[in-house]
This record gives sequence, structure tokens and C-alpha cells, in this order.
Amino acid sequence: MRVLAISGSLRRDSHNTRLLRAAALALPPGVELELYDGLAALPPYCEDADRDPVPAAVEDLRALIGAADALLIATPEYNASIPGVLKNAIDWASRPFPDNALRRKPVAVIGASTGLFGAVWAQAELRKVLHHAGADALEEELPVGLADYAFAPTGDLADPELQQRLVELVDALAREVRTPLALSR
Ligand code: FNR
Repeated sequence: MRVLAISGSLRRDSHNTRLLRAAALALPPGVELELYDGLAALPPYCEDADRDPVPAAVEDLRALIGAADALLIATPEYNASIPGVLKNAIDWASRPFPDNALRRKPVAVIGASTGLFGAVWAQAELRKVLHHAGADALEEELPVGLADYAFAPTGDLADPELQQRLVELVDALAREVRTPLALSR
């Protein structure tokens, strides 16, 4: 099973990218995680450019999402919402609507911020946007606050309870791929 991991931060020492690396250490057997590194190469969304042939970076993004069994997105909070670069990527991925690469794709959302609340608003926002685009965003979230102090030297989360929640969230994502909620209901 292939999970495409997208960090909403372009920062070199991003806590959110680090959180995805912690997730990569916590994967259940049979699950591989690939970290997407094309966010900065995506042009600003424009409908005029959204026709064949689309920009190469857009084609790559759509192909990677289409080929992945699931997505794991870590988002920081920028002004109580998600960063523009991440929203831009989702806007590109959401087209053509409704038959886009995100449609029915299982997605788990996590996030880290340096503040106390761990990007909780941003995660809610991101789930709303993903849901609108047609993705199956899991209800489980993982807000990691005080991110400057959240990681152990091993790369895992320092708080055992948060680390356990990360393990459980990745596990839930893998289960969602194997048995989509829509089928288990
Ligand atoms: C922030 N930050 C922030 N934090 C928060 O808890 N709520 C917020 O609304 C914001 N807003 C915000 C806007 C902008 C433009 C920046 C640059 C930062 C702080 C942010 O969560 C912190 O810098 C994280 O460390 C960013 O994530 P990465 O880059 O470490 O992954």
C-alpha cells in the first residue's frame, strides 16, 4: 500500500515535514510512505492554465495522487487556516471536478504548530476543503502543539501518548484503504 505524504510547509526545518517523517517510522507492515516534494514547483492555480497540456508539476501531482492508495497531509496553521501553497495544491488536484484524483481518496490530516493548540483550526479547515473536493477525509486528527519541543532525537514524538495516537492514525488510514467506511457501514 502506498501513502503519499504532503507537508503544507516549505520551510527547511519544518515541524510538519518532521511529523510526516515520524509517521514514516510508525507505519504498519505493508505500507510505504513517499514524501511529496513538488509543492513549491506548482504554479498559482489559474483556470486558463488548467487545460491540456497542464503544467508538468500539476501533471506530476495529479499522477502521484492518482497512483497513491491514500494521502497523509501535515499542515501548519497560518492565520487560523491552511497555508496558501497547500490550498493551491488542493485546488489543482480538485480539478477536473468531480472526477479528480482526490475523489474517494482516503486522506488523514495531521498538523504541528509552535503554539499550544497544534494547528487544530487548520486541520479542521483542511478536512473541510478535502471533503468539498470529494476526498474521504478521516475524522481522526493529530494536533501537535509546542512543536519546538515535540520530537525526540529518534524522530518519534517525545510524548508517548501522542506517539501512540500517531501510530493509531496511520493504522486507521491503512484500514480505511482496505475497508472503506462506505463499504463497512
Ligand atoms: C504562523 N503560525 C501560526 N500558529 C498558530 O498556531 N496559529 C496561527 O494562526 C499561525 N499563523 C501563522 C502565520 C504565518 C504566516 C506563519 C509563518 C506562522 C506559526 C506556525 O504554526 C509555526 O511557524 C509552525 O512551525 C509552521 O510550521 P512548520 O514550518 O514548522 O511546519
